[in-house]
Amino acid sequence: MKVILFGATGMVGQGVLRECLVDPGVESVLAVGRSPTGQSHPKLRELRHDDFTDFSTIEPQLAGYDACFFCFGVSSVGMDEGRYRHLTYDITMAAAKTLARLNPGMVFTYVTGRGTDSTEQGSLMWARVKGKTENDLLKLPFKAAYMFRPAGIQPLHGVRSKTGWINAIYVVAAPLLTYLNRVAPKYMTTSEQLGRAMIKVARDGFPKPVLESEDINGV
Ligand SMILES: NC(=O)c1ccc[n+]([C@@H]2O[C@H](COP(=O)([O-])OP(=O)(O)OC[C@H]3O[C@@H](n4cnc5c(N)ncnc54)[C@H](OP(=O)(O)O)[C@@H]3O)[C@@H](O)[C@H]2O)c1
Repeated sequence: MKVILFGATGMVGQGVLRECLVDPGVESVLAVGRSPTGQSHPKLRELRHDDFTDFSTIEPQLAGYDACFFCFGVSSVGMDEGRYRHLTYDITMAAAKTLARLNPGMVFTYVTGRGTDSTEQGSLMWARVKGKTENDLLKLPFKAAYMFRPAGIQPLHGVRSKTGWINAIYVVAAPLLTYLNRVAPKYMTTSEQLGRAMIKVARDGFPKPVLESEDINGV
């Protein structure tokens, strides 16, 4: 399987990249981003791109792939709806429309989060925007598209948040998170389970298009 990965420098994307690099069924990974991953691996190639609303200049390099793991995403904290919608909906749809046109046989997976609002009508701004993004992604002519809605994610294998104090919390809370992952799969997954689930779903499919945390843990 040849994979394109967006958001490889983020916490979710680092975890997914790690699982792709260790999975013998993944032949190659193209990481598309504005910053380098800092990693070097025979299966990894990086493509630097700055305008995430327009991929026309790099289109030839985005063709010939089997799966896209779209882990790009921002927090809505402190952001107005217009900016959040631009960074969440506009950018995701620009990338996905380009990829669907270039790779009709592609499986596209998108990371949203627990509580995403498929009705697009609820009171939580981030959940409505993510819901609209999910709904419109599911209409694109991919071979298949899957929406991953993790709740909490425990970073493993050196995966780090870009925010120092968040890493400190993960270290201190590691025993509790490991326990929660075992007893409350609705609320907790690990970066390893998430990455492995994306690879398996892209390869083998899944009976429904939206995967909640417990689905991710059960794949
Ligand atoms: N972390 C969690 O516990 C968690 C739980 C549930 C759901 N999620 C969801 O998972 C998604 C990813 O979260 P995360 O924690 O991995 O976020 P993150 O650590 O902040 O990483 C975000 C990624 O998106 C890229 N990005 C953000 N804005 C960009 C822009 N304007 N242009 C180009 N690249 C940009 C970042 O690239 P740079 O490195 O260049 O900034 C980075 O690769 C989000 O949608 C989030 O809601 C996360």
